[in-house]
Amino acid sequence: MAHWTLDDIPWERFDASLVDPEILKVVKAASLVEHNGEAYGRYLEHVFADDAAFKEAGWRWAGEEVQHGKALARWAKLADPAFDFDSAFALFADKIKLPIGVRRSVRGTRAGELVARCIVEVGTSSYYTALGAAAREPVLREICRRIAADEIRHYRLFYTHLEAYLARERIGRTRRALTALGRLLESEDDELAFAYYAANHRDDGAYERKRYNAAYVRRAYGFYRRGHVERAVVMAMKAAGLEPRGRMSRLLARLAAWLMTMRADRLARQGA
Ligand SMILES: [Fe+2]
Ligand SMILES: [Fe+2]
Repeated sequence: MAHWTLDDIPWERFDASLVDPEILKVVKAASLVEHNGEAYGRYLEHVFADDAAFKEAGWRWAGEEVQHGKALARWAKLADPAFDFDSAFALFADKIKLPIGVRRSVRGTRAGELVARCIVEVGTSSYYTALGAAAREPVLREICRRIAADEIRHYRLFYTHLEAYLARERIGRTRRALTALGRLLESEDDELAFAYYAANHRDDGAYERKRYNAAYVRRAYGFYRRGHVERAVVMAMKAAGLEPRGRMSRLLARLAAWLMTMRADRLARQGA
């Protein structure tokens, strides 16, 4: 099936009166992160240098991520014609440097790399589902619907390759679970916080990780509902090699949903 293009988005249905300014901020940030998919594609090309099938799928994947960035940037520009994507992206790409050129995954093994890729797609698929449900503007809802469907497909793509690599590289259950957890915790590193800063606050002084991570997390976590978290936990547990539908998974989902709401509420009270 052919992938969608920007022409498939019903831009003429855009309704400025339904734009939520807080959602607009995170959409601008997301457009930068997605657009950086090309750099990640180059990194994966080196890590999987002798795997032609994966490399081809990887390039298609990177192209789709860049398109997500373009769709979100175009919507952000409709909502705020002053949004300067190019200079925001230049600042972002200058700060967030990927280890392009390395021959070995930063996760140690290719299976580890694929576990980390799965976790990222768990995050994006649940995020765009939650964002689309929270948004009222019809064009953004449609963009989020299409992106979320892509992200779930990306998860399946990496998971399929992960299964093949696990048969060759025996990374062990603990290592696999720790890799998943490690990538999950990295979501609080600079990438998202800096994207939020570069897209929204680059004229307001220097970047501070703590401050902009708080601002980003407050908004992003605030969109999640229990069902979004439950689904994300099932997918993450599966990628981590743990029983996805057991008691532990249900407990974790409840705990994660509670922690995310608590944190978003606390940061909102602090004015993040
Ligand atoms: Fe994406
Ligand atoms: Fe993706």
